[in-house]
Formats: sequence, structure tokens, C-alpha cells
Amino acid sequence: MTKVLIDCDPGIDDALALALAAGSSLDLVGITTVGGNVDLSLTTANALALREFLELGDVPVTPGSAGALLRHTVRAGHVHGATGLGDVVLPAPRRGPARGHAVDFIVETLRARPGEITLVAVGPLTNLALAVRREPRVVEWARDLVIMGGSYTRGNHNPAAEFNMLADPEAAAIVFDAGWTVTMLGLDVTLTAVVTTQVLERMEPLGRLAELLVPAAQSYGVVTAESGPAIHDACAVAYVLDPSLFTCVPAVVNVETAGQFTRGMTVTDFKVGDRRANALVATSLDAKGFWDLVIGAYERLAAR
Ligand code: BDR
Ligand code: CA
Repeated sequence: MTKVLIDCDPGIDDALALALAAGSSLDLVGITTVGGNVDLSLTTANALALREFLELGDVPVTPGSAGALLRHTVRAGHVHGATGLGDVVLPAPRRGPARGHAVDFIVETLRARPGEITLVAVGPLTNLALAVRREPRVVEWARDLVIMGGSYTRGNHNPAAEFNMLADPEAAAIVFDAGWTVTMLGLDVTLTAVVTTQVLERMEPLGRLAELLVPAAQSYGVVTAESGPAIHDACAVAYVLDPSLFTCVPAVVNVETAGQFTRGMTVTDFKVGDRRANALVATSLDAKGFWDLVIGAYERLAAR
């Protein structure tokens, strides 16, 4: 079973990504939280509530960085609602977070199992950047690093930048420059992973789990037969489960940190030449295969 550590900022689509992990064959070794879509106190509270709702057992939830490394904090409450989970109301968690800081948890968990753990990051990259600075060997110890973030064609928070990159561009630059190969699932593909009416109809019969999935999807965007909200973060977990759903191309990615209008832009050069490709950039997604994988996992989870 692939071991994964998920760094997240739940976040509606983060919640749907955690549900995918819960219903799949992954061995989830930890959840770390970061301030992002909403404040750290809320992303952590949401992760704790999701751990219990999704029956993730003793998987530790460890809070991390509250804000970006250098600049002002950017939030996405206008997309994810005041609590971060839209119209979803989960039972209050009975258990609290693990002691310590996410950065230490990431470093120590990788140190204990070098080469075994895949990092999945679906929020701003602040915790990962600090982990790299604290212990550069995390780059060798990680089996893989898969992120939802960036784009080679467009932004969403503004025309240039995707939210997770804009929320902490300096952190993203540190992570892309660290020496590993970042698998970057950006808006180019995640915007094709949309909840349409047909997808929603497959979620509705899922009993208690539908109480999370359906209001999450509906409060995240307008669902129609042709389009709907993109559940970006679930793409990162889906990639770990089945990379063949994606086409990925080696590239050199630099994160813009100084541009007046382009901060957080992931400047992607597919003409790698003699340089080392620091990223594998997703360029297409088999959307039907993606939803079959995701709904299959949700069905298994609902049947437990
Ligand atoms: C990303 O930004 C956040 O709002 C989502 O949770 C996702 O991680 C999409 O740009
Ligand atoms: Ca997220």
C-alpha cells in the first residue's frame, strides 16, 4: 500500500480529496494543516472533523503554518465559505490535534521511512518549504511529491496565479527549487475534474457520506449537465492511486515572486534542453476514468 502524507487546507475540495484517500487503498500516515483557504484554526478544525467523519482512525492531524513565509495572507473564504467547508456541517470532533508542529511531523515521518512516503500537498506550500529548509534531506527521503497547484496556461485567483501558489509564492519557489521532481497537477487539468449533474447523481445515493459530498459540491459551484465546480485537490490523490489517468510532461518550472502582476505564476518551460526538469507537469486528465476511480472509492467508503 502506498504511504501518503497529505498537507492540506480544508477547504471543500481538500475534504473531497481526503474522502478519496479514505475510500482507497492508500496508507494515510498523517494529515498536516496549513493556513490557506481559511485560517489555520479552521483548516485544522475541519481536518479533525473530517478524520472522524471519514473514520480515519488514529491518523494524526498536526497543525502547521498559519501564514505565508514573507507576505500578507491571501484567503479564499469567498469560495469555500466562512468555515472553509461551504454548506457542509460535520459533527464537532471529539479528539484534538497531535502535539507539535506539522514541519517537525513531516521531517520526522520521512526520516523514519526514507523512500517510502509520498507527499501530497494540496494547499499553500509553506509547511513543505519550511521542512526543506529545516532538513534538506527530506528531498531524498520523500518517495514522491505530488501537488495540486499552479498552471502553465492561466490563473484562477487572478489571471496569472493559481491560489495555492499565490498564497505563498516564496514557499512554492523554495519547493520547486529544492532538487526533487515535483509532480504538478495544475488548473490545466484540475479544471476538467468537474462535478456535473451526472456525477452528483452518483454521489446522492451514498447515505451518510452523501451528507458531506452533496452539499460540498453544491456550495462549491453551480452544477449543470455540462459543467460544475472542479474538485482540484482530489486530482492529487487520484494521481497517486492511478498515474495513468494523467499525461505528464517534464518541464522546468519557476515560480514568479517579484512580478507586480504575476506573483505566484508558475512559469513553465517544456523546452528543457540540457537543464534538469524540476517538474512533471500534467497536461491532460482522463475525466471519465477519474470519476470512475473517485466514485468507486466513495462507494466503498459508504459501504463500510
Ligand atoms: C486550490 O485552491 C484552493 O482554493 C483549493 O482548495 C485548491 O487547493 C485550487 O486553486
Ligand atoms: Ca486546497
